[in-house]
Amino acid sequence: MITGGSNGIGLACAHRFATEGANIVIADLLAGPGTAATEAIESAGGAALFVELDVASPEANQAMAAAAVDRFGAIDVVVTAAGVSDGGYRSGDIESQLKRIATAREAAAVNPAAALTELDIDNWRRVLDVNLTGTLLSIQATAQVMLDQQRPGAIVTIASIAARDPLWGSPSYPVSKAGVWMLTKNAARTLAPLGIRVNAIGPGFVDTNMTAALAQADEYHHRVIENTPMGRRGTPEEIANVALFLASDEASYVTGELIHPDGGWFTG
Ligand SMILES: NC(=O)c1ccc[n+]([C@@H]2O[C@H](COP(=O)([O-])OP(=O)(O)OC[C@H]3O[C@@H](n4cnc5c(N)ncnc54)[C@H](O)[C@@H]3O)[C@@H](O)[C@H]2O)c1
Repeated sequence: MITGGSNGIGLACAHRFATEGANIVIADLLAGPGTAATEAIESAGGAALFVELDVASPEANQAMAAAAVDRFGAIDVVVTAAGVSDGGYRSGDIESQLKRIATAREAAAVNPAAALTELDIDNWRRVLDVNLTGTLLSIQATAQVMLDQQRPGAIVTIASIAARDPLWGSPSYPVSKAGVWMLTKNAARTLAPLGIRVNAIGPGFVDTNMTAALAQADEYHHRVIENTPMGRRGTPEEIANVALFLASDEASYVTGELIHPDGGWFTG
């Protein structure tokens, strides 16, 4: 079960887990790329289902879990990759992102604290609703299924280096990811005695729609590449490999962890 599986890190997880023989459920706002991904997995001999999901909706998360059980009978592994970098973010809409970067740059030129003092509260709420509350809702819906079916399970959340580094600009994203980190640890403690492991991945900058506009911005080299010892963004597949490890029995004694595939961001 992969939320946010239509693009980027979630999509790479869907393909990686499918090659290991897993039945895949992709749940996402965007049906076009999600359905294309499930078709690709099925034509390669796998089994996959697409479910439309706004991860911020409790009912939609419950429906997602029910659809997975209906099709495959159980849920063993969940990756919560649905996320936004900004309240107006829509995966693949690079033009809007470029405009938001330009607007933020202009506002900062007038007021260097604008990203904090002029932050739109609806924008803040949407980031927290999707990234943090959405992760909670997905964990609630799927963990209950795992408990009911009395089988061990693994949940992998997607935080960020921003869980431990405020980065720059709006506080919404780092705060949401710090919340995902603590939620992961809390859920791990609650669910460990019940046979469910919960871990977080905190990627550095990864080459997906989410960083595509940033990669075109002037600040990119200074802020991202120069601060990443490996000197490049990661690939979604490199993050999917970490998710696969955390979901697998090879990680049987690992829970409540935050692992950073970040090209060395946290070395200094
Ligand atoms: N790309 C990076 O550099 C990076 C770094 C650290 C963490 N992350 C995190 O990784 C996760 C995946 O991001 P990505 O880089 O693959 O971005 P992406 O835009 O390629 O994929 C995100 C997916 O989440 C879906 N989504 C967004 N809002 C949703 C909602 N309300 N309900 C359901 N689905 C929704 C999108 O439609 C999209 O398919 C996010 O949580 C992101 O914050 C990304």
